[in-house]
Amino acid sequence: MIPGPTPVPEKVLQAMSQHPIGHRSGEFQSIVERTNAQLKWLHQTNNEVLVITGSGTAAMEAGIINTLSQGDKIICGDNGKFGERWVKVAKAYGLDVITIKSEWGQPLDTNEFKSQLEEDKNKTIKAVIITHSETSTGVINDLETISKLVKAHGEAIMIADCVTSLGACNVPMDKWGIDVIASGSQKGYMMPPGLSFVAMSERAWTRYEKSNIAKYYLDLGPYKTTAKKNSNPFTPAVNLYFALEQSLSMMQSEGLESIFKRHSKHSAAAQSGMKAMGLKLFAAENHGSPAITSVEPENIDAELLRKEIKKRFNILLAGGQDHLKGKVFRIGHLGFVSDRDLLTAISAIESTLQSLGLLTTEMGQGFIAASKVLNE
Ligand SMILES: Cc1ncc(COP(=O)(O)O)c(C=O)c1O
Repeated sequence: MIPGPTPVPEKVLQAMSQHPIGHRSGEFQSIVERTNAQLKWLHQTNNEVLVITGSGTAAMEAGIINTLSQGDKIICGDNGKFGERWVKVAKAYGLDVITIKSEWGQPLDTNEFKSQLEEDKNKTIKAVIITHSETSTGVINDLETISKLVKAHGEAIMIADCVTSLGACNVPMDKWGIDVIASGSQKGYMMPPGLSFVAMSERAWTRYEKSNIAKYYLDLGPYKTTAKKNSNPFTPAVNLYFALEQSLSMMQSEGLESIFKRHSKHSAAAQSGMKAMGLKLFAAENHGSPAITSVEPENIDAELLRKEIKKRFNILLAGGQDHLKGKVFRIGHLGFVSDRDLLTAISAIESTLQSLGLLTTEMGQGFIAASKVLNE
């Protein structure tokens, strides 16, 4: 029950356990052809979605270095660990970064983006970059509104980290006009880590032509050319492609609407369950991510609680990152997660609190509240 790596279905594991095949073979090309179409379906786009062997950060870095040039002015939203990462990557490549910050646990303020973009009469801002679902805090940012503001600006492109939102909630790339989406396999894709994905709009490709940042392995040009021929520029993680085809087929059978509903129900059930057992949510009200519920148990060592739950029930919850270590724990309900998984985790939290003498409400209230949401 961590927000990644997430649980992997048996069928996906089995698909991976075949002998690798030649990556230039016709057999493999057929897989690439099918997965390319499936990836477009998942992103709700007609744009090519490129597959990189690497973790999510590789996709983030590729998004920046393929669309921007040294010294470009950009806006980065920063309300958590992954927002901070965007700032670090952008600065590493010599970009001029304006940071729009919110306190950890709060969403990014769309009005700040609006005023920065409206004040930029000379159109010097080349990109706006945000994290859609901020995994470190369990906050979902308003990507739709910020994308609209970016469109109205006319010059900047919209780059988004959708690592823990894609496959959990609606991210219609074309409809919202997002120019670059970065994601990773160990999240909503229900796969092991190792593949990352970058989807690029036509507008983003026009910026690629002008980009002067040095790149080689993450130069997306060759990825695009080869994707059109159902191939890859380098040896891809062949067995992860087997997994990708299987996991995306499972997602297609479930359907996007059902997947989004399941995640939003699990998020609502987790939130309701935590509140009912007297625990405080860390993310601001109505801004909880569909993929992660972050909990700030007052006067309780979150690390001790996490360790006890792991020891007694073999259920792993995520801890707090950086200054939140010991202060929060996070329940991942992303990807291959069922009602049973969620109710079990909630019961385990409740029972462990009781065993430690830390439960301040009547035993079972958390379970009852979560169950009610799931049964609605
Ligand atoms: C929001 C977000 N962005 C990016 C990443 C990418 O991290 P990694 O490079 O470890 O896959 C993660 C992983 O946890 C994440 O949650």
